[in-house]
Amino acid sequence: MTGIAILGMGVVGTGVYETLESNAETIARRSFGPLEVKYVLDLRDFPGASFEDRLVRDFGVVERDPEVKIVVETMGGTTYAYDYTKRALAAGKNVVTSNKELVAAHGAELIALAEEHDVNYMFEASVGGGAPVIRPLVSCMGANVIEEIYGILNGTTNFILDRMERGGAPLEEALAEAQALGYAERDPSADIEGLDPARKICILGSLACGYDIGVENVRAEGIAGLRREDVRHAAEAGYAVKLLARYIRLGERKVSAFVAPHLIPKSCILANVNGVFGGVTYIGNVVGEVDILAAGAGKLPTASAVAADIIDAARHLYKTRFRSVWSAERAEYVPPEEIGGRFYVGSSGSAQDAREVFGDVRLISEEGGAAFITPRLTPEERRVKTAEYRRRARVFSEMRVLERGVDEW
Ligand code: HSE
Repeated sequence: MTGIAILGMGVVGTGVYETLESNAETIARRSFGPLEVKYVLDLRDFPGASFEDRLVRDFGVVERDPEVKIVVETMGGTTYAYDYTKRALAAGKNVVTSNKELVAAHGAELIALAEEHDVNYMFEASVGGGAPVIRPLVSCMGANVIEEIYGILNGTTNFILDRMERGGAPLEEALAEAQALGYAERDPSADIEGLDPARKICILGSLACGYDIGVENVRAEGIAGLRREDVRHAAEAGYAVKLLARYIRLGERKVSAFVAPHLIPKSCILANVNGVFGGVTYIGNVVGEVDILAAGAGKLPTASAVAADIIDAARHLYKTRFRSVWSAERAEYVPPEEIGGRFYVGSSGSAQDAREVFGDVRLISEEGGAAFITPRLTPEERRVKTAEYRRRARVFSEMRVLERGVDEW
């Protein structure tokens, strides 16, 4: 019997508990024996819940119990969760988490601490919800240099964009729906403003390059400023608008990572990933393109990923599975302004102004001002030409068009 403690009985914690109950037999077979939830730590009362007799408020009880081999941290945040995680690892317990905020901020340190104590710090559920994205990256694609990653890493905003594209509810209404479905963060501005996917791409990017990108470096732009017209114009031109999280390898240890709304060609798989579904595309220098899609948020999809880590930890209780995958040494970070490309511009200006300033633009609409896609611009051209265009017209929105290939930048 392997003892488990679940810290935090919110949406994900509850889903993990339910999954361990409903799939107990399958999970026991794959874990080399049954698992027992010995403790549930939460400050709230749960009258009548089946785990009521196992509720504790003092983490010391979990920490001191040698039968607890796996601690499931589904509390979120970086205060108590950070303290309890360090204490659990130092006590020789494996820790499994869905807490992307903590992993993004302290992943390298916590992995090192786990290694020091020959246990595991596992965080498959921290990125991609139900989509398995961490193991494919560090294990299945382990022989590749990862050149690029781009993904829809926030279920809430993809759900909202879907509603916008179908001409339905305004942002606030779609967000309320996403909150009711348990997709959104406690503070949903982390979803809307792109901070949540920034944390996630920081995790994937750091694993891809092996160095710490530093979550504070990752530029995040969300969907708050997005206009319905932009989504419509993009569709008319054969693109979907998606909030993309991107990692680009620019050299050994030199990387960029950022989050921003993008125009994605409809022919691209991710353009057709809608609702709460999310997905990641990896470009490896040996395998080429690998695409992974699944529900990116929600109770059971996320619980599925947490439970898979619990099984893996149960099979490797005293053996660190993924050693040295993420060093605390810093990567050299290149901001997105230093990366060229093609850009969508929604403006009050004329098609003539757009052509005079940017050259051979692709005009999409002149209704209420020119909406167009620029030719490929170097970072310097972008700065100069955008400044010139802004002297002539109001720019309502500017979005990058997804293009691949470092050589082209
Ligand atoms: N708020 C997050 C999302 C939850 O919408 O993707 C899953 O990490």
